[in-house]
Amino acid sequence: MIAEQCLKIVLTVSLLFIVLVRVDASNHTPGPQPPYNLRCEYLKDPIGIDVKKPRFFWMLQHSDRGQKQSAYQLIVSTEPSVETAILWDTGKVLSDQSIHVVYEGKPLESDRTYYWKVRYWDKNDTPSPYSSAAQFDTGLFNPEDWEGEWICGTNQVRKEFAVNGNVKRGRAFVCGLGYYEMRLNGQKVGNNVLDPGYTTYEKRILYSTYDITDTLLKGENAVGVMLGKGWSGPLLLLLQVNIELEGGEKLKFFSDRSWKGKDGPIISDSIYDGEIYDARLETPGWDQPGFDESVWSPVETGIVPNGSLSAQMVQPIRVLETLVPLTITQPQEGVYVFDMGQNFSGWAEIKVSGPRGTEVRLRYAELLYEDGMINQENLRSARARDIYILKGNEEEVYEPRFTYHGFRYVELTGFPGVPTLDTIRGKVAHSAVEQVGSFSCSNPILNQLQRLIIWGQKTNLHSIPTDCNQRDERMGWLGDAHLTAEEAMMNFDMGAFYTKFIKDIRDVQDKEGTITDTVPHIWGQRPADPAWGAAYPLLCWYMYRYYGDIRILEEHYEGVKKYVEFLRSKATASLLEYSYYGDWVAIEKTSGSFVSSFYYYYSVFLLKKMAETLDYEAEVETYQDLAAKIKDAFHKKYFDAETRSYANGTQTANTLALFLDLAPESVRGSVFQNLRSDILYTNNTHLTTGILGTKYIMEVLTDFNAASLAYELATQTSYPSWGFMIRNGATTLWELWQYKTGPSMNSHNHPMFGSVGSWLYQALAGIEQDENSAGFKNIVIQPRMVQDLQYASGTIHTPRGLLTSTWSKSTDNITLKVYIPVNSEAEIRLPKLKLRSIVLKESGKQVYNGQKFLTGIPGIQMVEETESAVIIKVGSGFYDFELLGK
Ligand code: BGC
Repeated sequence: MIAEQCLKIVLTVSLLFIVLVRVDASNHTPGPQPPYNLRCEYLKDPIGIDVKKPRFFWMLQHSDRGQKQSAYQLIVSTEPSVETAILWDTGKVLSDQSIHVVYEGKPLESDRTYYWKVRYWDKNDTPSPYSSAAQFDTGLFNPEDWEGEWICGTNQVRKEFAVNGNVKRGRAFVCGLGYYEMRLNGQKVGNNVLDPGYTTYEKRILYSTYDITDTLLKGENAVGVMLGKGWSGPLLLLLQVNIELEGGEKLKFFSDRSWKGKDGPIISDSIYDGEIYDARLETPGWDQPGFDESVWSPVETGIVPNGSLSAQMVQPIRVLETLVPLTITQPQEGVYVFDMGQNFSGWAEIKVSGPRGTEVRLRYAELLYEDGMINQENLRSARARDIYILKGNEEEVYEPRFTYHGFRYVELTGFPGVPTLDTIRGKVAHSAVEQVGSFSCSNPILNQLQRLIIWGQKTNLHSIPTDCNQRDERMGWLGDAHLTAEEAMMNFDMGAFYTKFIKDIRDVQDKEGTITDTVPHIWGQRPADPAWGAAYPLLCWYMYRYYGDIRILEEHYEGVKKYVEFLRSKATASLLEYSYYGDWVAIEKTSGSFVSSFYYYYSVFLLKKMAETLDYEAEVETYQDLAAKIKDAFHKKYFDAETRSYANGTQTANTLALFLDLAPESVRGSVFQNLRSDILYTNNTHLTTGILGTKYIMEVLTDFNAASLAYELATQTSYPSWGFMIRNGATTLWELWQYKTGPSMNSHNHPMFGSVGSWLYQALAGIEQDENSAGFKNIVIQPRMVQDLQYASGTIHTPRGLLTSTWSKSTDNITLKVYIPVNSEAEIRLPKLKLRSIVLKESGKQVYNGQKFLTGIPGIQMVEETESAVIIKVGSGFYDFELLGK
């Protein structure tokens, strides 16, 4: 635990160091520095995008504080130098916009590489040097660009083709359903796994684009594709290779009926059950030119999926880490159990040598029985096993291709010989979103909690946000998706991921406007539980708040409106009755219709905010009125004047009423007192909330000046609490507050209770933004220095750059180090705690003394004292504050 805490501190300090180095480096050449971290549609140098007017953003650096962009110039060309062949030169645009600048140049073409660079002018009109060039590749924009046929029949297909010249540029566009692995001239193409990302295939199918310039050979080439079932029905492949030779000649090569197929070594594959691989069936050389394919048969054609082809503009799933087992035991003769030390998603790679035909079995589990054997009961019908049949070579290395498991323990049986810790490795696979946030503080429980949240969150990003990653489920349950979204956006680079998932939601919407509990829709209902369906407006809104994404609001306004209108059509007297899950897995139940009506209001409220942001004036009024009606009806129906509580007075009921101001001003105080005493006295500082109440209760307590109580809940270690999970050995959060291990519903990696993750950043590190700000333009730093917490530190990556807040307190001083990105401003609300007669210093110089703001320190616009805090307004840059007093 202590080691882990140190690690966190080291991480945070090193992040801070990076920030400082940036600032420091920029000090050497004064003025505006070249923009960095250039992104196109949220992605770094994306390959294969199919947005015809992509958006660009960049981050700014400056040697001075209080800096802004006053203008920018962006150039797009087809030449890497970005000097010639210019398609778009914005000239100097007077604007502070550095995110989501929409391409307005000459029309982009399919399958081209474009380069771009940008510079900016600071607030004094001094230009920065240009950024280094970034690039993006377009995919195939039009259905006609695809010349091949969908082929099927076997799980291995191949074709050879000749390239008569030197290759200047080669791209492969591939969609293999359910999953594929493309091989070219003996090598795997790219490093995606479990590709393409999961969508509602009847509506939309994703294809991936690969740069194969360096793998193509002059002369004969061979492509081989392995196919797996994934989430789909029949195995299908559509593939196209576009080649440009030096000299300009263009070649195309694609999947069609001339391909040959033969089932390969994968004799069965299933996401839930695992893979059976018979290495004796391998056909060496099949993915290389010159292979004898005389026993291979012609492929079949004729099945064409309904969904439209769409570029996979989201980080693919990849193997991102390799874990070494901590221990190996032998609970029974010939049964070996490896403890990977961490619950995660992926699989084991095994090294083995033995007689041909030996069958080695791997079984995966989250839990062990007392006798050390693995316990798979909670996986329900998922068999979670991989079987490898040896071909009998020297050493064979196997890892499954078309399945994944959620597990901590691996059981190995049938192993020829005695395995060692080096026999297996854990391959951690999930969507390759970068971790961009870090949080740490002086309380080890919270550092552990942050660790559990990170592991649970990332290992449940599998091109959709999944509820869990181990049992026979692993679905995009919408409730879980919206509850964890803010936490995910603070910890990971989620812009592209949610852009895709919000489209997935729209894909399931029907004419009536209904959406479904799970997306893609497998389990659950249509229409979704209103608390689940709220993911549609909520995710759109979070994308706007966190990433300043207006396009999401524009593209989904109609969809969200249709959804809200559907809810309205189901309402009786302005309230909703239907509900399936309500405050799911709560300790004390809250009325389902109460919860549904809350989310009805929330959905209307967000639609109104979307209309406001998009300047759809008439609609603002309509939904404002509707929201007011719901609010009124909600209070009338659910407020109990005698008990001064809502519904049955649970923590969740009172929390929801307070969270969105559904409770009128006149009763808010007493409702809050009820909530507080329920937590404190009735439940001895414990939660009784399910997943919904848990998300909002921390925020409500913090808003009502009871961050201290929220902190006690967050650090509680007896049942029910996050600390209780940690104390019981959890390495990811559980589905239930209870510790259960039987065949019932009890996943041990369920990220939904991790919604508290955003509260750690917001309340403890104090990273927030102004109510009307989007994309962290107007930052608020307001750390809650509660109880025994000695320090806290949070760093997130906003679309405008790194934002960090680190504070510490002692009896006679408080320090706060912040870094505010260029082009943003911040209001810092630094609590005075018990300090009186205060003096505020910044990097050792006084900025406030004896109730006077001492002007002249760069970047600091104002310092003001209130009863409980010092309010400091700053522009961009790094600041090192110290508050002293008696
Ligand atoms: C899932 C949950 C989900 C719930 C809805 C469960 O099976 O695992 O996380 O939100 O169903 O009832």
